Amino acid sequence: MLKFLYKKKFYSQFLIRKFISLSVRISNMFDGMKDRKICGCSLVKYVPSLYRETMGATGSQSTCYWTLDRIFKDSVFESTDSFIDVGCGKGRVLAYMLKKHYPCAMTGIELNAEVADFAKKWASKYDNVNIICGNAFELDFNDYNILFMGRPFEPEMFYKFIAKLESELKHPIKLYYWVDQQSGNYLNDRKGWEKLRREKIFISHGLFMFHNPQRYSIWTFSPYEK
Ligand SMILES: C[S@@+](CC[C@H](N)C(=O)[O-])C[C@H]1O[C@@H](n2cnc3c(N)ncnc32)[C@H](O)[C@@H]1O
Repeated sequence: MLKFLYKKKFYSQFLIRKFISLSVRISNMFDGMKDRKICGCSLVKYVPSLYRETMGATGSQSTCYWTLDRIFKDSVFESTDSFIDVGCGKGRVLAYMLKKHYPCAMTGIELNAEVADFAKKWASKYDNVNIICGNAFELDFNDYNILFMGRPFEPEMFYKFIAKLESELKHPIKLYYWVDQQSGNYLNDRKGWEKLRREKIFISHGLFMFHNPQRYSIWTFSPYEK
């Protein structure tokens, strides 16, 4: 790994920052092209959160396709798996999974009605994708065994969500937690949770995907080991 890329001293330099901004715009352009092929529309445009103050909810930032390549690089999905994107935004993760022909049932739940309607509209042509407009805190996650979270919540809400999973789940799950640097350490050494991988990412295909390095982690949780 090119470790110097991750050093603030390197990526805070003026010219490097200019190149990073350009890179991010180019990655977004590629993402928009892929979206159009799968969804018939671009999922790039960000919708700010209406519920940040009241519910610690983040805005609808779509995760870059190259990032998802890294996160899911050695994942295998079975037809019996039931996947849910918690805070699915416009549905980028589900679009990625369709592109990869993952055989599992796929669900997204989204709090912001305008954003959920957007996802519902393009996903309506796919039988194996279901979009729920609603609050993830009111959903029973026993219907799912693989969860993805692309930082849907601010840290305090993330801790509450973990408490909900721990108290309600009756079977083991796998959790993909993308952008975990603020709150992912909460799961370290926590009873029932086992970390499978944690990685920092910044660059792909010679381009920067984000303005700063980001981190993700993959976990299993077993309610039997609590
Ligand atoms: C950063 S976006 C991630 C979108 C998508 N998962 C991705 O990675 O491309 C997070 C989304 O979570 C949604 N969200 C936040 N709190 C939520 C809640 N309690 N229930 C359902 N969705 C929520 C936000 O409205 C936002 O659209």
